[in-house]
Amino acid sequence: MDKLEVKKLTKVYGNKTVLKGLNFEVLSGEFLSILGPSGCGKTTLLKILIGIESSTAGTIVKNGEDITKVDSSKRGMGIVFQNYALFPNMTVLQNVMYALNLKIKNKGKAEEEAIEMLKTVKMEEHLKKYPHQLSGGQQQRVAIARTLVLKPDIILFDEPMSALDADNRLMLRREIKALQKKFKTTMIYITHDQEEAFSMSDRVMVMNEGKIEQIDVPNQVYNHPKNEYVKKFVVEHLIEKVSSIEKCTGIDL
Ligand SMILES: Nc1ncnc2c1ncn2[C@@H]1O[C@H](COP(=O)(O)OP(=O)(O)OP(=O)(O)O)[C@@H](O)[C@H]1O
Ligand SMILES: [Mg+2]
Repeated sequence: MDKLEVKKLTKVYGNKTVLKGLNFEVLSGEFLSILGPSGCGKTTLLKILIGIESSTAGTIVKNGEDITKVDSSKRGMGIVFQNYALFPNMTVLQNVMYALNLKIKNKGKAEEEAIEMLKTVKMEEHLKKYPHQLSGGQQQRVAIARTLVLKPDIILFDEPMSALDADNRLMLRREIKALQKKFKTTMIYITHDQEEAFSMSDRVMVMNEGKIEQIDVPNQVYNHPKNEYVKKFVVEHLIEKVSSIEKCTGIDL
């Protein structure tokens, strides 16, 4: 895939315009984070990109093909939500095999591929466990394996770390980046955490009230915030974090 192009994407719910004509592109293999306050339209955007919600106007073009009306299952995209959404009555292995079984007729081959992917996310010791027997971080690894095993060229993440503690977040951050390198998957990643966005991303998109305030490489957003909003919401927040670490540790960052 060479790129995803989003043109004039608009979504209206009732009398509220939730997305106001968004224009942006995501390049192949890129890691793009989306930052923005609650209610600004981040989840709605992801749902429209993957096709589980329809847009009111605008187009989505992937690889030169207009996929705005293409069925979700045929877009070559996967999504990982914050609450894992695993099937509670299926084991780890069954959860990962479920979608594969629909795609691959040979059961032995499907199982082989599922186990291989579970090894990649370091879950091979837990194949026979049920979701309730796993920690949050482990459940999220299974959810990621379940998405990756279908080999999507784009994975969308909707605040995948928000239910995890700080240690697990850091670990999973590194693992997601490693998976991205290994599979060369394009990733679009919603987070509430400015630092997470800046440390993981090739580019950061800052949204506010259904609009894109700025989309650029972290360095550029930090040094040249496009407006007062980006300065307050992103830059000042990061500066505050750094200065509080300096204060606590005495280390000059
Ligand atoms: N199915 C729906 N029907 C009506 N309004 C909706 C629907 N889904 C979302 N909205 C509204 O659209 C706006 C954007 O919601 P969305 O879930 O995209 O925000 P968000 O940026 O993901 O917020 P958060 O950070 O809290 O997850 C909100 O005002 C929300 O109330
Ligand atoms: Mg959301």
